[in-house]
Amino acid sequence: MIPLRPRRNRVSAGIRSLVHETDLGPERLVLPLFVHDLPTAVPIASMPGCSRLPLDGLIEAAREAHGVGVRAVALFPALADASKDHLATASTDPEGLLPRTVRALKRALPDLVVITDVAMDPYSSDGHDGLVRDGRIVNDDSLPILAAMAVAQARAGADVVAPSDMMDGRVGAIRAALDAAGFHDVAICSYCVKYASAFYGPFRDALDSAPRSGDKKTYQMDPANVREALREVALDESEGADWLMVKPGLPYLDVISRVRAATALPVAAYHVSGEFAMLKAAAANGWLDYDKCLLESLLSLRRAGADIIFTYGAVDAARLLAERKRGG
Ligand code: PBG
Repeated sequence: MIPLRPRRNRVSAGIRSLVHETDLGPERLVLPLFVHDLPTAVPIASMPGCSRLPLDGLIEAAREAHGVGVRAVALFPALADASKDHLATASTDPEGLLPRTVRALKRALPDLVVITDVAMDPYSSDGHDGLVRDGRIVNDDSLPILAAMAVAQARAGADVVAPSDMMDGRVGAIRAALDAAGFHDVAICSYCVKYASAFYGPFRDALDSAPRSGDKKTYQMDPANVREALREVALDESEGADWLMVKPGLPYLDVISRVRAATALPVAAYHVSGEFAMLKAAAANGWLDYDKCLLESLLSLRRAGADIIFTYGAVDAARLLAERKRGG
């Protein structure tokens, strides 16, 4: 028998690059950014290298990302408690923090793809993604609020609105409202398969957006479920979603792969705050090589089937990929 030797395809860098099955480039990445209404940046302790940024700092960060080939940002506003209420009223204010940020960003960087998050939590005094009444989430009464929020974001210039709230029917409600307002070209990136995950902890510190009571298990998915994910995919497709997201990323590679196989739409994965924090914490202890583990994580998300990756490491990854290309 002829001995079969898979190592022949690994013997040199040249051969390895020819047989490389999955590519990773900065054009696949989306950088999430946090904005607030204060004059200076405030670092987020559990997400080293990330800060809540003032408007000018955010524009600088977006410019830096764009300069290294990252073409898209996802914006998250951190509001003061005083401007939050039960109805998330601030989320539809055209002069609110987020619309002002979007307008300034599009003026400064017209080619940048600006993605805005649609959910009530940063604006809600209850810290939930939907409307709370008598301690319960009221799904259908949340929909007009989410739809109005999406329209306000589109009016400010958002290219893609990204409902992350997991209310039933919100993609359809948002699509109808966008179309009625004439925003036919504004796409919807649905956080279609979003799990009730403990890996969002650092993000909730960043926005101070943790639920004031209870948890998000009545709307975010049970980490045990994957058939249910495929049901969400079918619904969001039928309601008019343009991209489908799976979130978190690495612990859910099997889900990404199943979603990839079930849809012809682009699939996004969110390498979430806790995944990023783990890498940073281990690297700070000298236990992991951040650069290598970051690229390996993102490549794995691509291999599982993600076309688009949201990651706090987008700029780091873009720089590392450029160095690699130069042979560094
Ligand atoms: C909120 C939202 C969350 C994230 C993005 N949008 C947190 C949550 O659902 O509580 C998490 C992102 C991250 O952890 O990086 N609608």
